Amino acid sequence: MFNLVIFGAPGSGKGTQSEKLIAHYGLTHISTGEVLRAQIAAGTELGRVADSYISKGQLIPDDLMVDILAAEVDRLRPQANGFIFDGFPRTIPQAEALKKMLEQRGEEVHSVIGLEVEDEELIERLLKRGQVSGRADDNLDTINNRLKVYHSTTSPLRDYYQQEGKYHAIPGSGHVDEIFSKISGTIDSHPQAPKK
Ligand code: AP5
Ligand code: MG
Repeated sequence: MFNLVIFGAPGSGKGTQSEKLIAHYGLTHISTGEVLRAQIAAGTELGRVADSYISKGQLIPDDLMVDILAAEVDRLRPQANGFIFDGFPRTIPQAEALKKMLEQRGEEVHSVIGLEVEDEELIERLLKRGQVSGRADDNLDTINNRLKVYHSTTSPLRDYYQQEGKYHAIPGSGHVDEIFSKISGTIDSHPQAPKK
C-alpha cells in the first residue's frame, strides 16, 4: 500500500490532480468533500447535517468526519493498493486520527503533496467553477470563508507534516500536466512508490 495525502487550499487542484494520480498509479481516491456531497444529493440525515456546514464554508466537526473517513477506508480497503486522501485531514486532530487509524491497520501516510496557489487565483478559479458546478459553496462569501478556515485551521498541517519529513510543496499554478509531472516526480522518488 502507498498512501498519499493531497493537500491544499480550496481550488488548489486537489480533485483535478487526484484524477490523474488515479489513472497513473491505480490508487483509490477518497475525497471527503465528494463523500459529503453524495450524502447531500441522496437526502440522508448526514447530508442534511453536512450541508449546514458546507454551505457556510465551515468544517464538519472532527469526530463526525473521522468516523466517515474510517468507514470509507474500511469499505474500500479490500480492493485498494493505496489511498489518495483528498480534503482529509484538515485539522491537527484529524491528522492525529488518521495516523492512529492507519497504524491500527498496519499502514501509514507515506507522502503529503501540498499544492500551493495564491488566494487571488484560488478565488478566480472557484468563481469560474461556480458558473457550472452547482456547488453550494462556490460563491464569493463562502469562498472567502473557506479560505479563512484554510489559513487558520488547515494550513498548520504543513508544519505538522514537515516535522514528520513527509511534506512536499508543489507550485500549483500553471498547466495541469506540468503540475502533475512535478507530483509524479516526487512520488517516484519515494522508496515505496507505487508502480505505474
Ligand atoms: P472539498 O470538496 O474538499 O472542497 P475544497 O477543499 O474547498 O476544495 P475544492 O474541491 O473546491 O478544490 P480542489 O482543490 O479539489 O480543486 P479542483 O481540482 O476542483 O470540501 C468541501 C467542504 O466539505 C469543506 O468546505 C467542508 O465544509 C467539508 N469538508 C470536506 N472535507 C472535510 C474535512 N476533512 N473536515 C471537515 N469538513 C470537511 O480545482 C478547482 C478549479 O480550478 C476547477 O474548476 C479546476 O478545473 C480548476 N483548476 C485546477 N487546476 C488548475 C490549474 N492548474 N490551472 C487553472 N485552473 C485549474
Ligand atoms: Mg475537490
